[in-house]
Amino acid sequence: MRCILIVSLFLFRLTIGFPIDQYPIAETARPVVIWHGLGDNWNSSGIHRVEEIFASYYPGIRVHSISLNDDPSKDQQRSMFGDANIDIEQVCDTLTNIDYLSNGFDAVGFSQGGVLMRALIERCASVKVINFISFGSPHMGVSELPLCDDKDWLCKRRNALLKKQIWYDSVQKRVIPAQYFRDPRQYDKYLEHSNLLVDINNEREDINSTYTERFSEINKLVLVSFLQDTTVVPKQSSMFGDMDYFGNEINWRDTRLYRDDLIGLRKLDQAGKVIMLEIDDEHMRIPEDMIHHIAKTYINH
Ligand SMILES: *[C@@H]1O[C@H](CO)[C@@H](O)[C@H](O)[C@H]1NC(C)=O
Ligand SMILES: *[C@@H]1O[C@H](CO)[C@@H](O)[C@H](O)[C@H]1NC(C)=O
Repeated sequence: MRCILIVSLFLFRLTIGFPIDQYPIAETARPVVIWHGLGDNWNSSGIHRVEEIFASYYPGIRVHSISLNDDPSKDQQRSMFGDANIDIEQVCDTLTNIDYLSNGFDAVGFSQGGVLMRALIERCASVKVINFISFGSPHMGVSELPLCDDKDWLCKRRNALLKKQIWYDSVQKRVIPAQYFRDPRQYDKYLEHSNLLVDINNEREDINSTYTERFSEINKLVLVSFLQDTTVVPKQSSMFGDMDYFGNEINWRDTRLYRDDLIGLRKLDQAGKVIMLEIDDEHMRIPEDMIHHIAKTYINH
């Protein structure tokens, strides 16, 4: 079985290349926008492979890979450091100015990119997302920082330090994964200090109903999760699942986010618009078959 490794934590790299944004303008297929994950960049081989598969079904389809900097290594830096709110605004401006996206597009988010893409859907009034596919995205946050290779003890020590300072403004406004850190044992701190997730999940008292409206207006929500995910903790976060104070799993339909319909997820579910797919592997190890399935079923549909 062929596998696409979408980089997360700079561990994996593929070597298939394909020029980006150089297809002729498609008359029929709806364009696609992809947001890469943490440690990846807009021009990586994994992203190109996905584009290539989409183009094999819809020749000429326009695929835009989101970048915060044209230089891939700087774009990769921006996936780790910065203020996510500023990034989302920048991407909103960029996409608004791309003519071929003006009639709407399908959106694909890999890992962290899926969380940022959802923020974009909720906040950016000038873009229209039809189908939204997210792969292993920590929609209910992470209670461990996903920055280290398993054997990198130095990195792990830095992480332990960072975790102690996670709610400092200096960390929240500078380290991207900190902005979707969410530990039920520190829920009050999260409510008070989270720079991104608490807002886009509408978990504070003053709910932004624009977010709820905009997110519930998408056509399909496809949530792909990894059964052996050890990077996103808890792994059910990719399906909007949560955990309680003691670490027990809370099914997505039993969360407050769902029951009180804080972001429109229940509305989407009750309309039959939520599709859950599973990959029996580690985080971001995506069998090519899955990309083919997505292309055939949810892109341009
Ligand atoms: C993007 O990747 C392609 C092929 O992988 C490479 O030829 C091209 O130079 C890269 N673009 C930039 C701006 O680095
Ligand atoms: C809700 O979000 C929209 C889009 O980001 C923003 O323009 C608006 O000011 C927010 N409303 C409130 C009450 O925060």
